[in-house]
Amino acid sequence: MKRYVLAIDGPAGSGKSTVSKLVAKKLDGFVYLDTGAMYRMITYKCLENNIQVEEIEKIKKILEETNFDIKEDKFFLDNKDVSFDIRTKEVTSNVSKYAAVKIIREKLVDIQRKISEGKKIVIDGRDIGTVVFPDAELKIFLVASPEERANRRVKDYESKGIKADYNETLKEIIKRDKLDSEREESPLKKAEDAIELDTSKLTIDEVVEKILSYMKI
Ligand code: C5P
Repeated sequence: MKRYVLAIDGPAGSGKSTVSKLVAKKLDGFVYLDTGAMYRMITYKCLENNIQVEEIEKIKKILEETNFDIKEDKFFLDNKDVSFDIRTKEVTSNVSKYAAVKIIREKLVDIQRKISEGKKIVIDGRDIGTVVFPDAELKIFLVASPEERANRRVKDYESKGIKADYNETLKEIIKRDKLDSEREESPLKKAEDAIELDTSKLTIDEVVEKILSYMKI
């Protein structure tokens, strides 16, 4: 089987995971990897163990000892299903700090490359087209206004039964955008050869169709 990496990057709430999942489903033999969930997993584990971002030796140990496992859309840390725990507000408001730590990125990028080896894969994140797979077969960079992204997040939270305040969510998104794009290690940015798609005024299906039309397979 010939490898095909479809890299989908973009800021929080730009529609990456929804769109990536659907694109992978529509294509024969493709799997989907949510790299944001991996940063959330390690953040969750550090918070649980009260480990701060500055405690590099402790983080190193955690990275060595932790077993990350992904089965379909479920995420397991040392065999415990943490799919729900990694989406809490606490993890969301801390994840960008931990995702800026070099050794965390090195380890997770290594796992992401191993998981993707020889596969047909849709992989979403912030640095897929720039760092993880600079040679991806197709790179998409999704954007949308912060207001639109906050609206989507609130709806998303509500559909999961989580109460969310629009203004607080908007603030959170703007803060994460800033941290993710200004960090030293693999900042969020569009790869030069990525296709930028503004999803603000598009439906999910329209975004999916556009991406499928760019794929030459
Ligand atoms: O995609 P999601 O919003 O779940 O990602 C959570 C956080 O993980 C992002 O805000 C970012 O800090 C980090 N992340 C990253 N690199 C990736 C994917 C996510 O730094 N490839």
